[in-house]
Amino acid sequence: MRVNPIGSLKGELTLPGDKSITHRAIILGSIADGVTEITGALRSDDCRHTAKALGTIGATVEELGEDRLRIQGCGLHGLKEPDTILDVGNSGTTMRLLAGVLAAQPFFSVLTGDQYLRARPMARVAMPLRSMGATILGREGGNFPPLAIMGTRLKAIDYVSPIASAQVKSAILLAGLFTEGETTVTEPSLSRDHTERMFEAVGIPIHRSGLSLRVDSVKRIPSFQVAIPGDFSAAAFFIVAALVIPGSELTLREVGINPTRTGLLDALQSMGAVIEVSRRRSISGEPVADLHVRSQALHGTEVAGALIPRMLDEIPVFAVAAALAAGATVIRDAAELRVKEVDRLAALAKELRRFGVQIEERPDGLVIQGGASLSGCHCDSWGDHRMAMAMAVAGLAAGGSTTISDSSCVSSSFPDFWTRLDAILPGAAVPLEA
Ligand code: S3P
Repeated sequence: MRVNPIGSLKGELTLPGDKSITHRAIILGSIADGVTEITGALRSDDCRHTAKALGTIGATVEELGEDRLRIQGCGLHGLKEPDTILDVGNSGTTMRLLAGVLAAQPFFSVLTGDQYLRARPMARVAMPLRSMGATILGREGGNFPPLAIMGTRLKAIDYVSPIASAQVKSAILLAGLFTEGETTVTEPSLSRDHTERMFEAVGIPIHRSGLSLRVDSVKRIPSFQVAIPGDFSAAAFFIVAALVIPGSELTLREVGINPTRTGLLDALQSMGAVIEVSRRRSISGEPVADLHVRSQALHGTEVAGALIPRMLDEIPVFAVAAALAAGATVIRDAAELRVKEVDRLAALAKELRRFGVQIEERPDGLVIQGGASLSGCHCDSWGDHRMAMAMAVAGLAAGGSTTISDSSCVSSSFPDFWTRLDAILPGAAVPLEA
């Protein structure tokens, strides 16, 4: 893709449905009784992999109009053994959450993914699920996919997770629905809480106490209707673009603003940004609002600690904002970024240097010297959707055009990204074949 810096972003935009919430709705709908309807669903490769995997083990997930899904659930005990491997592509959420469901089934299943996912650590879910009684094998002691899972009648555990990971937490909570007795999971700091909110929204009892959650087995999950808010992580690219491109003024409608997801807003605020949040309301137990963003000058900041899990997926585009802010920005406590779709700390350091940014890579973060102007360049997405979109934002703010290789990977989470960008800024995103 060629990205041309051809002016400011003006107007308004609605974002595709939230990826994390869409995955959870598909999974819960598939183990509910009867017909579940989802509106505002994200239709991206990752979510389709979740739907396909659940289709292979017994649910029926139909794509209706634009963003509607209808699921014929098979009930808590109606899943069936797949006669083939479940390939979940690039989707870590699918693999880890489904591992929790599959560990509790009286059958054998194998989960695999693409070259990127097969390099991502799975011991974080395999270990607790094994201690609940499941047999899980994989490469390197069960840490890397393919994962072979022999499910069983699980026993409840009280698990203290060493990492703030919503995927780990959710895998255990999902397994806990099938487990006799109370399952507890505690995390070191709060990760996204969509699973908990959706359990509450569909009537599954869940108890929170500080950073601990407790679930018991349920007899059945009634079918439900859910509307999915716009994905804050998709909005993030446009928020930063509108902030850093002079003369921009953009309204983003119906964006999910769950506080476990909006750490980027806090980080940008600490850089001097003022982002107006209006029409706050709630959709299916999730807070949403409209966001109004105007271009403004930013200064460097430091992000660390409990803020990091709240802006985990936004660090790539945050690094672009930092590169354009006055002074240095320090990102600490972010070693988890090394095990995302790719090693995002290494990817950011390498790719932002191509734009002329001075950047130091540390084991758990980055130090970014902002303020210098960016020069258009040829850069690489590393096959990572969020890297591709972050590089697009850098390209929009750079002098001269930028080419991004392997740009089609945006289909994991935001298949329309390039067309949306080009619609709001005609000529900004030009496929290189064109
Ligand atoms: C997700 C959780 C996060 C995030 C990922 C989606 C989820 O990962 O990075 O893109 O939907 O649960 P962690 O489980 O590492 O927090």
